[in-house]
Formats: sequence, structure tokens, C-alpha cells
Amino acid sequence: MSTVVVIGAQWGDEGKGKVTDFLAGDAQMVVRYQGGNNAGHTVVADGKEFKLHLIPSGILYPEKLCLIGNGVVLDPEVFIREIDGLAGRGISVKNLRISPRTHVIMPYHRKVDACDEERRGAGKIGTTGRGIGPAYTDKVSRTGIRMADLVDPESLAERLRASIREKNELFSGVYGTGGFDYDEVYNTYLKFGQRLSGFVADVSVLTNDAIREGRNILFEGAQGTLLDIDHGTYPYVTSSNPVAAAACLGAGVGPTKINKVVGVAKAYITRVGEGPFPTELMDGTGDYLREKGCEFGTTTGRPRRCGWYDTVIARYAARINGLDYLAITKLDVMTGLEVIKICTGYSYKGESITEFPATLRVLAECKPVYEEMPGWTGDITGARNFDELPVNARNYLNRISHLSGVPIALIGVGPGREETMVLEKLY
Ligand code: IMP
Repeated sequence: MSTVVVIGAQWGDEGKGKVTDFLAGDAQMVVRYQGGNNAGHTVVADGKEFKLHLIPSGILYPEKLCLIGNGVVLDPEVFIREIDGLAGRGISVKNLRISPRTHVIMPYHRKVDACDEERRGAGKIGTTGRGIGPAYTDKVSRTGIRMADLVDPESLAERLRASIREKNELFSGVYGTGGFDYDEVYNTYLKFGQRLSGFVADVSVLTNDAIREGRNILFEGAQGTLLDIDHGTYPYVTSSNPVAAAACLGAGVGPTKINKVVGVAKAYITRVGEGPFPTELMDGTGDYLREKGCEFGTTTGRPRRCGWYDTVIARYAARINGLDYLAITKLDVMTGLEVIKICTGYSYKGESITEFPATLRVLAECKPVYEEMPGWTGDITGARNFDELPVNARNYLNRISHLSGVPIALIGVGPGREETMVLEKLY
């Protein structure tokens, strides 16, 4: 048996959906432990494309148990739309469970998200607008509504009444805008609770039972290391912990139960939203990667900023997450580039920096130091063994693995589940 945590080693959108979908084939249980519907996974299975925001990728395999842990924030409206969409395409959701401790995203969270972004003006974070930050704020303020409340009419009434009173004061007093009608919200969310009550189960118990029974478990992270509230490029981060350690907190398992940690990284790097990005390409190569890699957000449709692979970031992700392996995705997107650059370090005011800086002020002034390698041509999407790749692609992978300090376990050479090369078996 093995428990594997899969996390994003960059700024999110690394192709975790594809990697978790691939690994889920060998797991009996898939657990999401943080984030919400700010995430977006595109998974191509049997030629069909699925866009998932909340539901673990394992749902595409009928026999896997898919769990949403206490560390997630769940928007019931979006969740219901997602399960109905899957059911409409013949995908069963009978193996899906949500922790009673999972916090619920309410309509006022989405509105606070929008109002906050507007107030920030030029300093806006560029959030996904899904109410993620305000829902986590309420969790920490101890005013949140959890799944256990949503499915209990009395508890929902009590907690919602207090929340709406407080939020309406905020909307009228601070934001100068209209608030929410308690009865309307209550009646809508009461129905959501009735619809979802059958999904609620103790995720920590289920996960620990599965560990004891020796099952293979996959913990599916959302977003990425540099969007982590503690370790990311604060304040341009999300409000949860996308790093590996959060799998324990967000699912209710102890750190001694985690066997392997895999960091997913694109063969290049992308970022959505605002904030400094040392290897960003503002030229034709950036456009090439964006177009060829379809680098537009799954959740918001925003174009992603593209840049060269950054080994300062990779080493940082390896350290913060304790990475055992890298899964490199979208190698095929780089095919056709004449010259490929790898960022080996930063130069800051003439000094060399090898560790990722803690402040944006420093990061914004860091100039990437590059090493160049020749690119490759030809179609690599059919390659299934490392030796089938062009020599320049192999050299590139060996070099980024060496500079990142982490061996590569998986390589993605196309969007399909089967377009994956396995160098190291994880289960
Ligand atoms: P929030 O998570 O909606 O609060 O957004 C905060 C920051 O995280 C913004 O820069 C978003 O673009 C970014 N973000 C949130 N979720 C994702 C994701 O799944 N992929 C990439 N960026 C994300």
C-alpha cells in the first residue's frame, strides 16, 4: 500500500488534473484536501474532455472512493452543477463523500470577494472571484458555516442569521452596497443541504480506515506551492495551503501516514493573476507557449502568463514540500522551439541569489540567470519510453531534474491519459 500526495510545484495549472487522473488508476481512494472551485482540472479520458472544479479527478473511474476533506471550501451550487453535469454524461457520483467539517462558500462570500478586489484597485490580487478568500476568512474568524450545519436546518438557521446580519452591516457600512435577504438565502441553502446530506461522511475516518487496510490513496492538491498562503508570493496567493503538509490537516491524517510526495511542474512555467514572475516571456515565445499549450484558465478563461522553467522555484518547491519526485507535464508544447532557456538562479542588484526570496519587492527586482540548450523537433506525443524522446529533449529533462534536485517519475507528452511516460512507479 502507498499514500501519495500530488501537489503543484509552480503557480498552479501545472497539469495536476492529468497526473492525478493517471495515478488514480492505481489508487482505491482519491482525496481533495484544500482550495475550492478556484481550481480547475481538465482531464481527457477515452477521448472525452471533462472540466472539474471541485470533484476529485478519480470520479472518472467508477470504483474509486472520492473524498472532499475538511480543508476544502465547497460551493454547494457549483458542486450540484458539477455532479449533475457528470451524471448527465453517464459518470456515477455514488462514491463521492464530503466531510461534515468542510466549510461552505455562501453567496455573500462571492460578493465580498468582488467588493474587496474592487477596493484594491490597481493593487488587486486577481482572484478567481469564487468567494474562496472570504470563506476561509470566516473559517478562521469562527463564523463559517460547515457542511454539518448546511444539512441541519436548525444549525443552518442559527449560523446563517448571525452571518447575514454581520455581512449586511459590512455591505452597507463599508462597501456601500445592498446585502442579502435572510429568508431567501436560507430557503435556497436548506434545499442544497437536503440535496447534499447523503454525501456527508467522516472523511478522516474513511481515509484512516483505508490506510489501515493497506489501500493505495492519492491526495490531490489544488493550486500550487507559490500560491500557498504561507510559502507563496504573498499577498498574490490563494487563501489555503496548497503544499503537501496540508494533505494531513485537510483530510485528517497524521504526517506519519504519508509515503510519497510528487510535485507536478510544467516543462515551462505559467501564472495567472497579478504579481512578479522572473522568467515571464513577453515576446513571441510566450505567445507560442500560450497558444500551443492552450494556456487559458479552466476556471476563469483568463490568458496565462508564460515563462521559462525556473529551477530556483523548483528547488524551493522541493524543499517546502519534501518532494520525492517530479511529474513533468506538457513537454510536447516545447517541441519546435529552437533554443530553450533554463533559469538557474537570480541576479539581485548585482548579487547572485539561489534561494527563492520571501518578499515581492526583492522578487520583482530579480533578473533570471539562464542556461541555454538546443530544442528539438518532431512529434513526441507517441513516445512512451524515455529512449524514444529526441536526444535534446532527454538532455533538457535530465538537466532540469538535476538543477531541481529531484528525480522525474512521470512525463506528460500530450493531454490524453495514455500520453504519459512512467519512469518510476508510484504505487
Ligand atoms: P483565489 O484563490 O480566487 O482567492 O485567487 C487568489 C490567487 O490565486 C489569484 O492569483 C488566482 O489567479 C490564483 N489561483 C487560484 N486558484 C488557481 C488555480 O487553480 N490555478 C492557478 N491560479 C489560481
